[in-house]
Amino acid sequence: MNLIFVKNYEEMSEKAYEIVKKILIGKKNATLGLATGTTPLGLYNKMIEDFNLGNVSYKNVTTYNLDEYVGLSTNDEQSYTYFMRTNLFNHIDIDLKNTHLLDGMAKNMNEACDNYNKMLEKADIDVQILGIGGNGHIAFNEPNEPFDSVTHIIDLTPKTISDNARFFTSINDVPTRAISMGIANIMATKSIILLASGANKADAVYAAVKGDISKNCPASALRNHKNVTFIVDDAAAAKIK
Ligand code: F6R
Repeated sequence: MNLIFVKNYEEMSEKAYEIVKKILIGKKNATLGLATGTTPLGLYNKMIEDFNLGNVSYKNVTTYNLDEYVGLSTNDEQSYTYFMRTNLFNHIDIDLKNTHLLDGMAKNMNEACDNYNKMLEKADIDVQILGIGGNGHIAFNEPNEPFDSVTHIIDLTPKTISDNARFFTSINDVPTRAISMGIANIMATKSIILLASGANKADAVYAAVKGDISKNCPASALRNHKNVTFIVDDAAAAKIK
């Protein structure tokens, strides 16, 4: 596992983009695994900036997102599909046909999960971007999720619901379930970059990096991956330094 310490959110985003850019330059038809939330926004801004400078193209790039809330339509401003369009896809030359997100409104959720798993089996993701939950979750794999899980429906924990309430008018509006790639899907990607910034991530980073590799901290599973890089800022690294 590579552990890179950076000063702050800005440096974390720069470092992450350095790695992503190398992949994009080396492979025009790269496949990216993408996350939502506050953590990757800085990286997405760097991707857009560099695209506007003409340095990279996403014409032949394919993406897969980690997760989606159950019950939100793609047009809902809180949905992850809406997030990806407004924060990245609408600002680069990616073909939306090559972007893949889970459907939180699927009539048959089991079928939606199976279809996504089948796609992921063939996807061969070059780099998976991850944030980390305050409770150590990756994607929406909450503590106690088995490491061999694949895409499935998850009941969000009260901690995740309250952490994510900041994006909604009221905590009562936060969906209580999500559809998410499983830990095994994440572990099957070729490389992983986990980003962590801020004091509210310090306990989770400690458990992921120094704690036991256990279901109590889903992110600890990543230590078994052959090519994983954690990029952690000062505040998030406070307990491991
Ligand atoms: C989002 C996701 C989540 C977030 C995590 C951190 O697609 O999979 O695991 O990465 O909840 O969220 P932020 O970045 O908002 O602190």
